[in-house]
Amino acid sequence: MSGRPALRLGILISGRGTNMAAIARQCREGRIGAQVAIVISERPEAAGLTTAREHGIPTRAIAWPGPGRTGEFETAAQAALAEAGAELIVLAGFMRILSSAFVLAHAGAILNIHPSLLPKYPGLHTHRRVLAAGERTHGATVHFVTPELDGGPPVLQSRIAVRPADTEETLSARVQATEHIIYPRVIGWCAEGRLAWRDALPWLDGQPLAQPLLEDFDA
Ligand code: GAR
Repeated sequence: MSGRPALRLGILISGRGTNMAAIARQCREGRIGAQVAIVISERPEAAGLTTAREHGIPTRAIAWPGPGRTGEFETAAQAALAEAGAELIVLAGFMRILSSAFVLAHAGAILNIHPSLLPKYPGLHTHRRVLAAGERTHGATVHFVTPELDGGPPVLQSRIAVRPADTEETLSARVQATEHIIYPRVIGWCAEGRLAWRDALPWLDGQPLAQPLLEDFDA
C-alpha cells in the first residue's frame, strides 16, 4: 500500500449492509487504503448497523424526517460525517433520495452502487424488471452520484449472464456477490488517488472515463 493516509469513508446504508461489510473487510485486511470512519442509517433497526458495531465501527442512526424535510436528515448526517472526518461518502444500499443541494455540496465525493447495468433499469426492483424483459445479461454499476437519480457517471460495472432458471432471488444473490468485488475496487482506486472527479467526469489514471469499465463474471 502507498504511504498515503487511509481515505476516510462515511458509509450510508438502509438494510443488511453486505456491501458495507465487504468494504470494511477489505479495509481491515489492508487490501484497500481506506478506513470506515462511520456508518450511518436512517433505520435504527438496519442489520448493517449491528454488523458495523460488531466490527468496532462507529455508527449513527438518524431518523428520516417527514416529506419535504429531507434537510433535517442531511444536516445531521453532514455533521456526523464531518465529525468522523469522512472524505468519501459511500452509498451502499441507501434507499433514500438525497437532495440536489446535498449532492452538489459533495460533488465528486459521493459514490453509489446500483443493481443494474446503468443506464438500463434505474430505480427499484431491477432484478424483477430484468427477468420480465427477458434480458440475457444483468449486473451492477458503481457510479458517482449527481442530482439525477441513478444518473451519475458510471465507473465500473459487473456483468453476469441471466440463466433460464434464474429467479429474482438467485439473480439478486449473484449480482450482490459481484458488488462485493467491484465496490471495494473502485474505493481502492479513490484511496490510491487513481480515480478523481474533474470537470464533472470521472478520471482514471489521468484519463477521462467516457465509458465505464466492464468486468464479466460468469457471463
Ligand atoms: C445492493 O444490492 C445495492 O445494489 C442495492 O441495495 C442492495 C443493498 O444490499 N442498492 C440499490 O438498490 C440502490 N438503488 P446491502 O445492504 O446488503 O449492501
